[in-house]
Amino acid sequence: MQTLNLNGYALPILGLGTWKSAPGEVYTAVKEAIKIGYRHIDCAAIYGNEKEVGNAIKTCIEEGTVTRDELWVTSKLWNNMHGENNVAPAIQKTLSDLQLEYLDLYLIHWPVAQKKLFVGASKAQHFLSLEEQPIANTWKGMEKAVELGLTKTIGVSNFSVKKLKELIANSSIKPVLNQVELHPYFQQDELVDYCHTNNIHVMAYSPLGSSDRPEGLKAEDEPVLLEDKSIAALASKINASVAQTIIAWDIHRGISVIPKSVNPARLKQNFEAVEIKLSDTDMANIKKVNKDRRYVDGKFWVVPDGPYTIENLWDE
Ligand code: A2P
Repeated sequence: MQTLNLNGYALPILGLGTWKSAPGEVYTAVKEAIKIGYRHIDCAAIYGNEKEVGNAIKTCIEEGTVTRDELWVTSKLWNNMHGENNVAPAIQKTLSDLQLEYLDLYLIHWPVAQKKLFVGASKAQHFLSLEEQPIANTWKGMEKAVELGLTKTIGVSNFSVKKLKELIANSSIKPVLNQVELHPYFQQDELVDYCHTNNIHVMAYSPLGSSDRPEGLKAEDEPVLLEDKSIAALASKINASVAQTIIAWDIHRGISVIPKSVNPARLKQNFEAVEIKLSDTDMANIKKVNKDRRYVDGKFWVVPDGPYTIENLWDE
């Protein structure tokens, strides 16, 4: 499988997403994925399933399906653990849950800070503004995590170009990657161009439109990506599924992609998408379906009198 070079470490371009994979089903899904050939598992403390993911990885290593060296494991720092001195304990907790000695990649999950006591945040007093808890301080903790050998590389998630520029100006280890929502309805050309010009890789979350999001995170008028007629026509022309066509489109853009599935047949189907070739015309046709439409719009960070707004979150 194609890999991306992150500071000399090889990230397999296709990985398994585990957001929304319930404890109870994620163990089997991760085991099955590794058996199929997946070598990148994308995790996060807030997904609430790292212990099960860790059990699956441990079983696969013990059974000889894979070695730790052959696997790439990503995880993410939750909002209530921002701040220089909170990062090491947070990553250590994740490592203990995952039963691993080190991560391959650790990301700041959101440019949003919460007070340590509040894992969930729904009121202004649960949050800290980025003036009170600057990203630059959190990033110092991320850099220390690399120095301590807790993770090989560090990056961010949900960062705008403006926030990346500020971070780069205030860092000694540069972020290697920005994980963002990205799919044919939200193609993110400007952000991808900036990242690729500045040696920052991009990883696409919700690549298939995350239709299994909780209802509270859905809008009523949402277009369903996997039912897109143009992509469906192209998919049938190349003898692939819509999901496979989308995954192949990411890979052709040099973007790492982490479709989530807990279904063995779909895990296999998604994995096989790495073999699909798209022509320039196919890519141009997919480009046309863009709607600049976020599914994960960040409105859940916007509370009355709170520090975050849609404008200061996305800098748009
Ligand atoms: P399931 O886990 O039952 O396979 P995203 O990666 O954008 O978050 O999307 C995940 C959603 O897409 C889940 O509902 C997942 O369901 C579904 N899904 C994953 N792979 C496929 C596929 N190949 N075809 C159709 N739906 C898929």
